[in-house]
Amino acid sequence: MNPPTARIPGRCHRIRPFALGAAARLAVNPFVLIPMTLIQELESRLAAAFQSVLGESVAAPVVAAADLRFGDYQSNAAMALAKQRKTNPRGLAEQVIAALDLGGLGTADIAGPGFINFKISPATYAARAKAQLADPRLGLPLTGSGSTVVVDFSAPNVAKPMHIGHIRSTILGDSLARIARCLGFTVITDNHIGDWGTQFGMITWAWKTALDEPALLANPLQELLRLYRHASDSAKADESVREACRMELVKLQRGDAENFEIWQRCIELSRGGLDKIYDRLDVSFDHWLGESAYNDLLAPLVDRLVADGIARESEGAICIFSAGAAEDPAKDPFLIRKDGEWTDFPMMIRKSDGAFNYATTDVATLEFRRREWHADAAWYVVDHRQSLHFQQLFAVADRIGLGEMDLRHIAFGTILGTDGKPLKTRSGDLPQLADVLDEAVAAATTAVAERSRVDTDEERAALAELIGISAVKFTELAHHRLSDYVFDLDKMLALQGDTAPYLQNSVVRCRSIFRKLEEEVDLAAVMPVFSEDAEIHLARQLARYGEIVPLVLEDHRPNLLANYLLELARGYHSFYEACPVLKAETGARDSRLLLCDLTSRVLIHGLGLLGIRCPDKM
Ligand code: ARG
Repeated sequence: MNPPTARIPGRCHRIRPFALGAAARLAVNPFVLIPMTLIQELESRLAAAFQSVLGESVAAPVVAAADLRFGDYQSNAAMALAKQRKTNPRGLAEQVIAALDLGGLGTADIAGPGFINFKISPATYAARAKAQLADPRLGLPLTGSGSTVVVDFSAPNVAKPMHIGHIRSTILGDSLARIARCLGFTVITDNHIGDWGTQFGMITWAWKTALDEPALLANPLQELLRLYRHASDSAKADESVREACRMELVKLQRGDAENFEIWQRCIELSRGGLDKIYDRLDVSFDHWLGESAYNDLLAPLVDRLVADGIARESEGAICIFSAGAAEDPAKDPFLIRKDGEWTDFPMMIRKSDGAFNYATTDVATLEFRRREWHADAAWYVVDHRQSLHFQQLFAVADRIGLGEMDLRHIAFGTILGTDGKPLKTRSGDLPQLADVLDEAVAAATTAVAERSRVDTDEERAALAELIGISAVKFTELAHHRLSDYVFDLDKMLALQGDTAPYLQNSVVRCRSIFRKLEEEVDLAAVMPVFSEDAEIHLARQLARYGEIVPLVLEDHRPNLLANYLLELARGYHSFYEACPVLKAETGARDSRLLLCDLTSRVLIHGLGLLGIRCPDKM
């Protein structure tokens, strides 16, 4: 495999021109920008028509049509506005259409009680396709300018088994960060690893009594995990071990030099092991501010919360209780229903033994992000099981003056095994991320050996690594984040399916046309004309790219983009079947080449936003 040439977007806004060979040239003119998506343009023209009829400015939302037989876009604004004004919706729609200036975009008509349907003309789609190809952003608007968002994702716990939630968090969080960056947000990614806490008592005890140095050097994550499991099993069986582990933790927290050194080595070794995994996944972070980074801030924070009357003592601990502000107790995260009654469910920020915990750190972390990074928003991509923790954290944020921040818990479900139960290894343990990736790459190796056209063993190995990891990522991103899904490698790797290999193969096929093209075509000079249904449909799908990507961030759902890309690829294949490209006469050929080029660019760019690269050959 040749090294992937398409730059993954997210770190920068441009895609590097794909290796096109001598056949076609892409003129990237940074000054040609598509000013608005079709939806934005229709909305502004429709709003102007409403204003001229109603004499006041109103919003007139437009959506893509669910059923293309009625048009490309539609609006039910006439119905909503007529209801408010108690007038006849169809009558209002008729007046609006009479006043509507679509500026040549297409036509509008009325259906049923007052729906306004828009049909976009093939000439508009042709002009859009041409402009989109000339735009380095491929028609993506800048919706996030001026806003800083911290994306808190991955965040495994050092020296503890990485649970499957960390896999989902890593893939989802990375994609959301790329998309937000590409849409113009100032994005700060932070790996808030669990590098402090009770597990270090156990690790230190096991380190002192059972460390296998060579194993540690060979595979630090695995050896640390073994030590953790050894300590945890021994502690369960033996009270004196439990006590010894607790003592090691107390020593660490008091700053004992030996224990501190062991802790530091654990962190360094874990970091090295994690870096390797993130490299394979093509995931990176701007910061690694783990829990321990906030140690010094915790005591003063708790004192301040007590002094401000936000937290108080309870049975020796310090807790934050309900402020009683919620009208509905069911919406108050500091209350819980027990035996038919609402009882306190406080957030503990200092235990009775004086130790601070996860919640304390999270409050300190949030304050830090606001103070130091001026974050306007923070997205926590974390397992749904922590939802109560985040509800409490966000409620505390309101009470400590951070209510202006847009705080989101981006929760997700579970990955299931083919037996429909939460994914486990054969021995019943939680599967480790590295093992999951190895397994996917092993399956991809078999698939590549069977069907790939690349020549050397080295190329085959690189392709298998790329495809295996892409398949895992795409499966994650193509599902609604809140639903559980089955980890089924055969399905994930299928060339004909809703998979990464299907999309990657579509790109390769799309590009291969340019290798077969015998003369030089300057696509920048082509004035495309679309007359076949399949051409128009593909152009319509391409034009929607700039509408789909911002939608992802409305509810933090990359599956909207993943599914758009699948549909685009299907649209491309239908087009390719219906419309000959290289054999068509010159005008049609060039219009179609333009569609091929644009399709491959949108697929590469869109996959890049999902953190997935495309090979040159498959
Ligand atoms: N380390 C935590 C866990 O594994 C996740 C941390 C998520 N981030 C946060 N700021 N709480 O459960």
